Amino acid sequence: MAAGKNVAGKLGCYRKIEMRVGKMSKVILTGDRPTGKLHVGHYVGSLRRRVELQDSGEYEKIFIMIADAQALTDNADNPEKVRQNIVEVALDYMACGLDPAKSTLLIQSQVPELCELSFYYMNLVTVSRLQRNPTVKAEIQMRNFEASIPVGFFTYPISQAADITAFQATTVPVGEDQMPMLEQTREIVHKFNSVYGETLVEPQILLPDNEACMRLPGIDGKSKMSKSLGNCIYLSEEPDEIRKKVMSMFTDPNHLRVEDPGSLEGNTVFTYLDAFCEDGHFERYLPEYANLDELKEHYKRGGLGDVKVKKFLNQVLQEELEPIRNRRKELQKDIPYVFEVLKKGSEEAEKTAAKTLDAVRAAMKIDYFSDGELLKEQTEKYKGA
Ligand code: TRP
Repeated sequence: MAAGKNVAGKLGCYRKIEMRVGKMSKVILTGDRPTGKLHVGHYVGSLRRRVELQDSGEYEKIFIMIADAQALTDNADNPEKVRQNIVEVALDYMACGLDPAKSTLLIQSQVPELCELSFYYMNLVTVSRLQRNPTVKAEIQMRNFEASIPVGFFTYPISQAADITAFQATTVPVGEDQMPMLEQTREIVHKFNSVYGETLVEPQILLPDNEACMRLPGIDGKSKMSKSLGNCIYLSEEPDEIRKKVMSMFTDPNHLRVEDPGSLEGNTVFTYLDAFCEDGHFERYLPEYANLDELKEHYKRGGLGDVKVKKFLNQVLQEELEPIRNRRKELQKDIPYVFEVLKKGSEEAEKTAAKTLDAVRAAMKIDYFSDGELLKEQTEKYKGA
């Protein structure tokens, strides 16, 4: 009898270890709000990396989420905008090389488990902690929400923690602006695990490895590329538009004549070259320079005109964006396929999230009907009363 118990205990222990090892397998979750088509800022800041990670074969699961519920936190009165951009974002994803055979593409609102997780996590976060979240602070200012912040918007970092933890993500490849969200998520994971026992996986952020990619400015050079500022180059843009936008880019305002020395500081054209260009581009389009360093040196010395640099950048961008645009056009011919991908992906994602939710409910002791323990305990309590 005692021996039998021992064996069972051991098996239980092995099972725990197995679960741990299982949990350690690498899983990616990331996503975007569907409020517009994706642009080259998204591309260098995250999309390009996602495709590399997908093709590296190092990750057991990759979840790419269209965060429509999050988009609604500050677009509650404009559901049509969110609805229209679901397919746009999915097309951009697949055009960039995210492959539904390797990555699960899902729509956030179609996984209701995420709401329930958020609801429980809300008990683990204070109002003052949310108020200190730098990204939320900046967004509140940008949207003039100061006097009337929607509660859903204010708490979206909690819902983002639910997104990440629901899929047991180990790795979250995002831009620098998402750092506070990851910090908040890690705090929630710590708190949850210390109060209710080891249940959730602590995620790591994976940032772009190049400074220019972190915060690609808009073509006006003023701030980050953003739809509302009208300073974007979209992934689906036609060649002529790309050329026009590149030729109108902000450079060094003091670089008036070709002979003048130029400055690279805040020079948008060079920031884009930092983000996009490789030595091979020089071989193909500007063989008199070996690499970007040589081009920069010449610009700083003087004697290199903006137009020449812009023409080169245009060639680089055209080369990079052409295959994406062409793949997008192919995909546009079969929208039912895109729908099928999203539907299947959302269903698969829900299964994963449901498993995490089960574990969360068990840890929080709200799994009343799952194992009969509570029934036994309460029956025992009132026996002979
Ligand atoms: N906040 C992200 C954005 O604004 C979108 C997002 C929602 C996300 N949930 C996520 C990103 C989870 C990474 C992980 O683009």
